[in-house]
Amino acid sequence: MNSNDLAVYVHIPFCKKRCIYCDYTSTIDQSLKNEYLYSLKEEIKMISKKMKNKRVRTIYFGGGTPSLMNEVYIEQIFKTLDSNFNLSFLEEFTIEVNPESITKEKADFYKMIGVNRISMGFQSTSDKILKSVGRIHTYNEGLKAFKILSDFFDNINVDFILGLPFEDKETVNNNLEFIKIMKPSHVSYYLLDYSHDTPLKFLLETKKINLPEEDQISELLDLIYDQLDNFGYNRYEISSWSLPRKECIHNKYYWKNYEYIGFGVSAGSHIGNLRTVNTSELPTYLEKIKTGLQPQEFTNKNDDFQELIETLFMGLRLSEGLKYDYLKQRFSDELLNKVLTPLKDNLSDYLSLNGSIKLTKKGMDFSRFVFENLLDIAQTNS
Ligand SMILES: C[S@@+](CC[C@H](N)C(=O)[O-])C[C@H]1O[C@@H](n2cnc3c(N)ncnc32)[C@H](O)[C@@H]1O
Ligand code: SF4
Repeated sequence: MNSNDLAVYVHIPFCKKRCIYCDYTSTIDQSLKNEYLYSLKEEIKMISKKMKNKRVRTIYFGGGTPSLMNEVYIEQIFKTLDSNFNLSFLEEFTIEVNPESITKEKADFYKMIGVNRISMGFQSTSDKILKSVGRIHTYNEGLKAFKILSDFFDNINVDFILGLPFEDKETVNNNLEFIKIMKPSHVSYYLLDYSHDTPLKFLLETKKINLPEEDQISELLDLIYDQLDNFGYNRYEISSWSLPRKECIHNKYYWKNYEYIGFGVSAGSHIGNLRTVNTSELPTYLEKIKTGLQPQEFTNKNDDFQELIETLFMGLRLSEGLKYDYLKQRFSDELLNKVLTPLKDNLSDYLSLNGSIKLTKKGMDFSRFVFENLLDIAQTNS
């Protein structure tokens, strides 16, 4: 890791249909695509002027649904990055895809422009579940897309969500069977988050939809952990499993709180101790870029205390945790003691503290409790 290394994220905020659980910034209004493309290119040119010495190590096109975009669109964004940043040290280039928008031609094109990692939103192998949350693909379409992509790429992530309506042992076993047979190099298995203002939250509040009970979810989680381990996957982050040497390099930049820059509506950046987040309002984003302004709605110069808290928040998600040596290089002993002593006192069963600070199995299972504790420490000391 060189201090000039950088991860680049580009947000593509267009979807064909919104899924009922989704809180990510995206629109089904396709009429703004051209203006958005223009704005992205302008933002990349504007920001890159201040980053001439940076070496881009990873690129991630996420969404929304990047695979919904015409190939020319994706190519133009990539070319703008290429002519404004140093991409000669690029290690990983990921594009997020949805099953229904994958064709052989698109896979071939992605390969041609240098994409070497695919992340596909699968969510479930049950058509009943997929339909109930507004997904527009079936399991068979997902399988077909995966097979097409496998002919071009050896590094494919599939996203699953645990705890959707109608989830039970059988649906999870079917998901695991898919993973066992198709062997994606990476699996992200997220626990359904229904805390945000989404149609799902409304349907739950009005009792029009049911989710599995927490006890059942925790049994299913154990099943997933055991089976993925049996299939040879390593759980290297709370929600991420990989085959050997297939961890996501880009996401590790976030978890290690390294430097990254995000382009597009709602994208976040962390450069030095400066943290910024772009507006999540698409019209505001377009207007700001048009008038030559930066589209940020949040900017904060972190002090060392905030940097440490953020570094712990992100780093504890990784199974390897954070090495003390690394923390000592970045932060004073006094600051480390102020934060780590109460953490050790409150969470001795949840944390392992041998040369590095990391979550135990119990800590991984109850990570929410650990992060709430960390938040309390942050709030008491700020
Ligand atoms: C940014 S989304 C975009 C992925 C892609 N558009 C798709 O839906 O297939 C990335 C992943 O976040 C996960 N995700 C989205 N909303 C979620 C939620 N409410 N709870 C848990 N995971 C969620 C899904 O697994 C999804 O594939
Ligand atoms: S989950 Fe993916 S496809 Fe569904 S609305 Fe969110 S970003 Fe779009």
